[in-house]
Amino acid sequence: MLYPDLGSTSNQLNVRGRKVLPNGGSRSSIQSAPYTIFLDACRGKHIVDVDGNKYVDFNNNYTSLIHGHCHPKIVEATTRQIAKGSAFAFGSSAEVELAELLCERVPEFEQIRFMNSGTEAVMNGIKAARAATGKAKIAKCENAYHGSYDAAEISLAVTPTNLDHGDPVAKAYSFGTPQGVLDDIVIIPFNDVENSRRILEAHGSDLAGILFDPFGANMGRTPPSQAFIDLFAEMRTKYGLKLIADEVVAFRSGFRGCMDKYNVRADLTCLGKIIGGGFPVGAVAGPHDVMSVFESGAEKAKLPHGGTFNANPVTMVAGYTAMEMMTESEFKRINNLGDQFRAGIKEVLSQVNVKANILGQDSVFALEILEPKTSPDTQTRGSMRHISGPEADLINDGYFISAGMHGTISTAMDEDDVAPFCDALHKALKAL
Ligand SMILES: Cc1ncc(COP(=O)(O)O)c(C=O)c1O
Repeated sequence: MLYPDLGSTSNQLNVRGRKVLPNGGSRSSIQSAPYTIFLDACRGKHIVDVDGNKYVDFNNNYTSLIHGHCHPKIVEATTRQIAKGSAFAFGSSAEVELAELLCERVPEFEQIRFMNSGTEAVMNGIKAARAATGKAKIAKCENAYHGSYDAAEISLAVTPTNLDHGDPVAKAYSFGTPQGVLDDIVIIPFNDVENSRRILEAHGSDLAGILFDPFGANMGRTPPSQAFIDLFAEMRTKYGLKLIADEVVAFRSGFRGCMDKYNVRADLTCLGKIIGGGFPVGAVAGPHDVMSVFESGAEKAKLPHGGTFNANPVTMVAGYTAMEMMTESEFKRINNLGDQFRAGIKEVLSQVNVKANILGQDSVFALEILEPKTSPDTQTRGSMRHISGPEADLINDGYFISAGMHGTISTAMDEDDVAPFCDALHKALKAL
């Protein structure tokens, strides 16, 4: 079967779904035109759709499945836990074990607090910085994605500000965002040290924190420079604000996370994705003096934080099993594999008449096609992905790649996966 096939079971499910679900589903980031592919089963690096088509999955649930799908050890550990209890209003040893594992790995993690999504992690990171400083304003980079908390999605999917005409203005992403939310967000231009310093200094004494992604916007396509991260550390020293590192994706960058690369310690690190082993997760971690905002005694905590499914033992067991398997050498192996994919793609580009940038780092890669223009590059975040051109060709060759020609590597892959993918990419780019 070739995508798109309007007679496919996937398309029939889209038609049925659209009647009862806006756009046919519950996740804007996966909804696609002509239709969203529906999956039946997954294992390792492979996924099989409801029409029986098999693909290598380079999406890996948007970077979260570091071991691919259904790793036998995770299936075994979670199945055992589900039979013992999936959620209860009591502590579990699994929560303590995952917390210990993460705090042993990352020097700035003395304590960690679990929740259920990266969005919640960023929301609580922002609230913790505010609770710790007693200030309201948060600085963030223009067009950086940090999940769907309203404060975190300000100035997302905007035309980059031309600084000759003035500084970036905080713009709502969703209709109905209160003016009060906009007033408390300061927008800085990504990787522009000079202008960001000027803007941060203008708001310095009102800032609770700077929220940033050490992997760079859009799942690590372009990393921040060392000078940009150093600027944040300089602002912390000067104004006592908190550095809120969003490592929801970035934590897959290495054994001690992504900030380790920059030799700067965050005050609050927001986590999600890989630390849940394939189950819903979020977390905020940091040194005790900052994390103490979550602590209560005779008095109410500065930042009370509940959540019915926080640290549910199934997620905790899955996360522990997944992260225990991510040894230093396993991180190195998949990051090297990323280098091999990027080198292979470079070789493909030297053989076809396509102008493109190879983006990404560590275990993610991406291809930004400049000429000829293709639809993925013109897609705006929050709008419907139109699967066509090389993305559709790759699907029809058995490779599912994310919007924007983005690929995520899992430990289920190895160097034998590079050449076949590059052959398929060569064919797809030649057809352009
Ligand atoms: C950098 C970053 N922060 C936060 C989030 C939000 O995480 P979640 O989708 O688990 O809410 C994402 C999701 O892709 C992300 O990429």
